[in-house]
Amino acid sequence: QETGCLSIIVLGASGDLAKKKTFPALFHLFAQGFLQSDEVHIFGYARSKISDDDLRNRIRGYLVQGKTSDAVQLEEVSKFLKLIKYVSGSYDSAEGFQKLDKEISEHEVSRNSAEGTSRRLFYFALPPSVYPSVCKMIKHYCMNKSDLGGWTRIVVEKPFGKDLASAEKLSSQIGELFDEPQIYRIDHYLGKELVQNLLVLRFANRFFLPLWNRDNIDNVQIVFREDFGTEGRGGYFDEYGIIRDIIQNHLLQVLCLVAMEKPISLKPEHIRDEKVKVLQSVLPIKDEEVVLGQYEGYRDDPTVPDHSNTPTFATMVLRIHNERWEGVPFIMKAGKALSSRKAEIRVQFKDVPGDIFRCKKQGRNEFVIRLQPSEAMYMKLTVKKPGLEMSTVQSELDLSYRQRYQGVTIPEAYERLILDTIRGDQQHFVRRDELKAAWEIFTPLLHRIDNGEVKSLPYKPGSRGPAKADELLEKAGYVQTHGYIWIPPTL
Ligand code: BG6
Repeated sequence: QETGCLSIIVLGASGDLAKKKTFPALFHLFAQGFLQSDEVHIFGYARSKISDDDLRNRIRGYLVQGKTSDAVQLEEVSKFLKLIKYVSGSYDSAEGFQKLDKEISEHEVSRNSAEGTSRRLFYFALPPSVYPSVCKMIKHYCMNKSDLGGWTRIVVEKPFGKDLASAEKLSSQIGELFDEPQIYRIDHYLGKELVQNLLVLRFANRFFLPLWNRDNIDNVQIVFREDFGTEGRGGYFDEYGIIRDIIQNHLLQVLCLVAMEKPISLKPEHIRDEKVKVLQSVLPIKDEEVVLGQYEGYRDDPTVPDHSNTPTFATMVLRIHNERWEGVPFIMKAGKALSSRKAEIRVQFKDVPGDIFRCKKQGRNEFVIRLQPSEAMYMKLTVKKPGLEMSTVQSELDLSYRQRYQGVTIPEAYERLILDTIRGDQQHFVRRDELKAAWEIFTPLLHRIDNGEVKSLPYKPGSRGPAKADELLEKAGYVQTHGYIWIPPTL
C-alpha cells in the first residue's frame, strides 16, 4: 500500500456528475477511512468563479442524501469539506492549470515527509469534447513531481466518441499524451456488486462449469429498464440514444463477463484479454434482429428536435461466433420510461430431453442475476407441488442479498471504482482495444439508425415498450414462464 501525498482533482467540479456521483463517492471513502486527512487533498476545478465555500455548499446536500444524518455524520461532512479547495480556470488555458499545479505542489510540499510522494488523480467530470485539451494541459503543467516519485492518472467516462472513427480519434489524442496504465476508463456497471460477482460465480463453482455453453443454454437476456424518461437530459440524450448510452457500454460489459472464457489468472490484463476476444467474436447485427422504440412525449422536451428518430428503447440479438456460444442468442434490451426499473441477466436453459412431465410444466429452468434493485440470484426450477397430488410447479432457489447478508452495506459503484484508481487496479476499467471492439460491433447499425434507415417505433410511457420487441424475443427462442413471479423476500 502506497503512502504519502494524494491529490484528487475533480475537473468539472460544479457539474452534475461531480455533485451527484464523484464527491459523494469520495465522501463515503473518506468516512470509511480510505482517504486519510493527513495525506489527501481534494481540488475542484471548473470555469465558474466561485469560492471554496461556494463549492462546499453546493455539494454538501448531496453527501448524505437519502440517509438520516446524525451529529457524527455531520461532523464527518465538515471534516471532508475542509479537504476541498477550489481553483477556477478554463479547460484550454495554461493560466488555470498553472495555478492548479501551484496549489497542488504547495500542498505536496507542506505535507511532504521524508518518504513523500506526489500522487495525482485527475477525475474528468467533463464533456468529452474538452478531454483532448484538458489532457494537454495536465501533461504540460500538472504532472506529478518526478523528484518525489508517485504517479499521475486520469479517470475518464463515456461517451467515448459516437462511433468507431470518433472514438478512435479520441483514443489517439489521449494516447499520445498518456500511457494506457495511466488511463482509467470508467464504466460504472463494472463497479456493481453483482457484476463483480460474475467472475466468481462462473469460475469458482463446479455447478456452472459443465452447463455454461450452447449444449445447455438456449438464450441469454441482458436487460436494463428504467421507469423514468430523459427528464432534463434530452439535449445530451438525443445526440446519443439508448444504444450508445446503455447497450454499447454497460450491457456489453456484462455480456463479456457472462460469455468470456476463463482467464489464465485474475490479473487485469488476463481478464481484459478474454473480454476482447469475446467482443471480437460478435457477428454483425442484423436489422431484422433489432427493434427500436421511442416513448410518446419524448419529443415534447424543448431540447429534442421535433423529428428525432433517436431510440429510447432497443432490443437486439447479438450472436457470438465461437465454440461455446454458436447459435445462442444474446438478447440485449434497454429502455427508458418503461413500466419498471431493474437490471438483470436471465440465462434460460433448454428443455429437458425426453421430458416425462412435459405437458404439465410451467416453464424452463432459468438462472437470473438481479443486478438492481434488490440484488439477488435465483434459479427457477421445477419441483413437485407440495401435497398429495403428483404435479409440478415452478419454484426457485433464492439468494437474495438483503436477506442473506443482513447488515452488510453494498458499496456504490463509483466508490469502489475510485478506490481502484487510487490503488492502481485496472481490472474493472475498459482497455483501449476493448473500447474499439465494442464500437466495431455497433457502428454499422448506429449509422443506419442515424441515416433514418432503421426507425424507432412509438411506445407508451410506463409500458413494456413496443410489442414488436416481445415478438423478437419469442422468435429468438425465449419462452416465457406463465403464472410465476419471483417476489424478493422481505425481512
Ligand atoms: C448512465 C446513463 O450511464 O447510467 C443513464 O447515462 C442511466 O442514462 C444510468 O440512467 C443508469 O445507471 P444505474 O447505475 O442507475 O443503473
